Amino acid sequence: MKDLTPREIVTELDRHIIGQDSAKRAVAVAVRNRWRRRQLDPEIAREVAPKNIIMIGPTGVGKTEIARRLSKLVNAPFTKVEASKYTEVGYHGRDVESMIRDLLELGMKMVRAEQADVVREQAEKSVEQRLVSLLLGDTEDRDEPEEAPKHTEPQTAGLPRSGGWVPSEEAESKPDEHARVRNRLLQKLRDGAFEDREIEIVIKEKQTGPIMGMMGPDQFDPGVSSFLDNLIPEKSHRRKVTVRRARAILLEQETDKLIDEEKLIEQAIERTEQNGIIFLDEIDKIAAGEGKGGADVSRQGVQRDLLPIVEGSSVNTRHGVVNTDQILFVAAGAFHTAAVKDLMPELQGRFPIRVELQALTRDDFKRILTEPDAALTKQQEALLETEGMRVTFDASAIDAMAELAAEANASMENIGARRLMTVMECVFDEISFDAPDMVKRGEKTLTIDGEFVRERLKTIMKDEDLSKFVL
Ligand SMILES: Nc1ncnc2c1ncn2[C@@H]1O[C@H](COP(=O)(O)OP(=O)(O)OP(=O)(O)O)[C@@H](O)[C@H]1O
Ligand SMILES: [Mg+2]
Repeated sequence: MKDLTPREIVTELDRHIIGQDSAKRAVAVAVRNRWRRRQLDPEIAREVAPKNIIMIGPTGVGKTEIARRLSKLVNAPFTKVEASKYTEVGYHGRDVESMIRDLLELGMKMVRAEQADVVREQAEKSVEQRLVSLLLGDTEDRDEPEEAPKHTEPQTAGLPRSGGWVPSEEAESKPDEHARVRNRLLQKLRDGAFEDREIEIVIKEKQTGPIMGMMGPDQFDPGVSSFLDNLIPEKSHRRKVTVRRARAILLEQETDKLIDEEKLIEQAIERTEQNGIIFLDEIDKIAAGEGKGGADVSRQGVQRDLLPIVEGSSVNTRHGVVNTDQILFVAAGAFHTAAVKDLMPELQGRFPIRVELQALTRDDFKRILTEPDAALTKQQEALLETEGMRVTFDASAIDAMAELAAEANASMENIGARRLMTVMECVFDEISFDAPDMVKRGEKTLTIDGEFVRERLKTIMKDEDLSKFVL
């Protein structure tokens, strides 16, 4: 993935999110600044701290959506977490440090994928050799180098080593013959002649202990959990699978063999520390409200635990220590009941950039209904297309849906763009049910217009009480 300029990032976000330009700009600049920093001399780079962002805006206006889309654009470990999910250290639940551990896991995945790409060709060759051996009837046990007795080594010299193939008695006397057989088999394998043939392979698996499974490795000190991890033996068992499936499994095994785990961890930690981004959603949920109840105390505790992580500190993980100095934090919250000032001042201070997202208007709704790549109207068209029904939306239908959504938001709770989904569901309630029958009757095209929309929503809009449930 290439590193996008701020303008390119905004353009990408525009494909999915309508409006909210200042928020888009802010995140685009913050992401680009990570790249800029990477170009600097280490001397000065060390001094450039990430400028954390806090996004504030009513519910359903695109905060989480921006994060979701951004995560697919950035070439960096990126995790989105809900602040409300954490509990203070010492209490039952996830502690905030686990977000750093999650981020590192993502970094590991990223680096592993890259390294797998590098060794792919070599790994694929090994897999082919192993498959050929298996097709020749060799059992997998003998393939395992650690289980193969040392003294067989010289005998295999000169033969394909990567497959770990051990010659059978007769072939040993005629190595040429055997090599020919293998080559022919290899050719057929490549031509796809054996894809559905079943072979038996050895699959290694780490068992999750009952305690670990129940509590999640998170509940343990990272040191303890990696210790436990080592205690749990790798279990290997045999399984019959098709060649097609075996290829995927063996590729993973061979790739693992070729990847240097130590180096992988080192790179992943570096990547996580230097480029990692954490999206801290629902941050308003940990702000203290008016009351001074027990919940508030624990929210304060989560805030306090967050401080050092956002500020920069060292977090222990099972793979090593991760320093959070350069990790970028983007927080978001609706701040309905709580205000930003209800957050601890120290925490507020760690989010120097504030952007506000705007409440969505009727015109925004019109655009949201039609413009994004996966706009609701497009989704609905695609869904009914599968039944053989062609749905088209008249401009008047879009007008009506936007207007009714805005009206409902004004007269009831304002739930932002989420209202459009309920409106859409309502309009299509009967059609979604009847579509297969309608197509059978020959009603294969359907145009939705404003009148139809209003008709469908009329009964519900009229009855305020009922509308609360339905809309
Ligand atoms: N500006 C927008 N453009 C396009 N779609 C939007 C926009 N805002 C919201 N949506 C759609 O509405 C839904 C809810 O939006 P989102 O999850 O971003 O809300 P939010 O701002 O995070 O609200 P909350 O504070 O309740 O978490 C999403 O499915 C999203 O696609
Ligand atoms: Mg959200």
